[in-house]
Amino acid sequence: MLCYLQPCLTSLGESNPMKRLRIFWALLSMPMIGLVTGCGTESPDFRVNNVYMEKISRELDVKFAGQRQEDVYTALTAMFGTPDLPVVTGGEDAGVSDVLSVENLHLAAGPVIKDYEAGKGLYRQHCAHCHGVTGDGYGPTAKFLNPYPRDFRMGTFKFKSTPVGYRPTDDDLTRIVRNGINGTAMPSFKEMLDSGQIDAIVDYVKYLALRGQTERSLISLSGDYGYETPEETTETQAELLSKEVLVDEILGAIVEEWTSASETATEAEGRDPVYDFSSPEFDQSELDESIARGQQLYYGAGACVTCHGPTQLGDGQTTDYDNWTKDFFGEAAKVADAELLDAYLTAGGLPPRNIIPRNLRQGVYRGGRRPIDIYWRVKNGIDGTPMPAASSQLTDDDVWDIVNFVLSVPYQSLSQPADMPEFVRDRN
Ligand code: HEC
Ligand code: HEC
Repeated sequence: MLCYLQPCLTSLGESNPMKRLRIFWALLSMPMIGLVTGCGTESPDFRVNNVYMEKISRELDVKFAGQRQEDVYTALTAMFGTPDLPVVTGGEDAGVSDVLSVENLHLAAGPVIKDYEAGKGLYRQHCAHCHGVTGDGYGPTAKFLNPYPRDFRMGTFKFKSTPVGYRPTDDDLTRIVRNGINGTAMPSFKEMLDSGQIDAIVDYVKYLALRGQTERSLISLSGDYGYETPEETTETQAELLSKEVLVDEILGAIVEEWTSASETATEAEGRDPVYDFSSPEFDQSELDESIARGQQLYYGAGACVTCHGPTQLGDGQTTDYDNWTKDFFGEAAKVADAELLDAYLTAGGLPPRNIIPRNLRQGVYRGGRRPIDIYWRVKNGIDGTPMPAASSQLTDDDVWDIVNFVLSVPYQSLSQPADMPEFVRDRN
């Protein structure tokens, strides 16, 4: 497959826009033969999003076989290249250079080279065994991990400074790769990779997210088009695979979400939360009052108790699922539907697991333990999970009171009620 596409993909670096557009078109009109025959190399391919196709085919009552699927994946390969040779065709028009540098992609992509020149094949060496070559969270070790590695293809990330529904900033992704995610399999790369390599890998994560989001858009859009007769198919192809749809409409909108991410980052508001214990002005009673107010809010207006439980063990509401699972099933209850579950697993979904609210007594915070990290979690909620943003009734000072309470819980052994349930070590 690679040898078939390589000359075309390479020539997409062409600077003459007319010529580039022609090449783009040539690529789109190529038959799939090259994609299926391969050419004897061991290069891995991106995995097809069968789970999402299954979902859309059920919703719209269409089949994702034959020409419809071929068109989606021919377009996707033309736009994003291959794991060895990533490109973002049409990226210039869509403003992709504000999101990532294509040069960085080449440092992170490709096979791991023994005695490699610094920085090649970084993603496959360090990330793919968990996150998968495709960034679908389905690497060879994924099914043994709890929580599962992140599937980047929805563009949804949990531990970030932006509100639910918005993309993470570069700083957010960099922080995750540097620090890892405490209490999960996701390691810290701060000792192993220098900052240039981390930048390259962060760009590659964004590339996989852009590609995955584009794949989803293409699948749902192609489901709306007719493929019943040869005439309909030809008409559909001309429209669906036009530059207007692929670049201006689909890629442009997705890129825009990423370029605007940093504008949506939540600044810390309200009173300064950092108590300097060594300062002569530090007032323990002030902190105690804040913690007490936070505790009230935990049980009251904050409604944290419904999920994190009366004793903060994370044993309140525990039957929900995350959005990666609910994306297919819709509601949590549908996971119990045997036929639907079977279709999901057959399409390559990982066995669904309930998402358990954090045990706040352990003091293990996945998104970081600085007061600002907990502030973001409480104020914005945790994207992709049931953990909601703080209600608009809560002021920023209220949020800081809750943060102080949360951070005090692991140290409150004396405040534990006598009839507290047995302490259960919880990996979630
Ligand atoms: C040993 C397995 C493993 C490896 C190796 C690994 N990760 Fe992860 N990663 C995870 C798991 C598990 C999660 C999900 C944690 C969670 O949901 O709380 C995750 C989550 C993430 C997230 C999502 C953070 C968020 O806010 O949602 C990013 C980004 C990420 N990893 C990037 C990387 C990159 C880049 C590499 C390679 C440099 C890498 N990971 C290597 C297991 C791994
Ligand atoms: C509807 C259920 C729900 C409610 C309500 C809820 N949470 Fe959560 N919370 C969760 C879930 C689920 C997680 C785990 C998310 C994950 O990491 O995948 C979580 C995680 C957390 C974390 C861990 C963050 C980290 O970095 O590891 C903190 C702290 C937290 N919640 C505090 C609160 C506070 C304080 C409130 C009330 C203002 C609250 N939660 C309300 C479900 C809830």
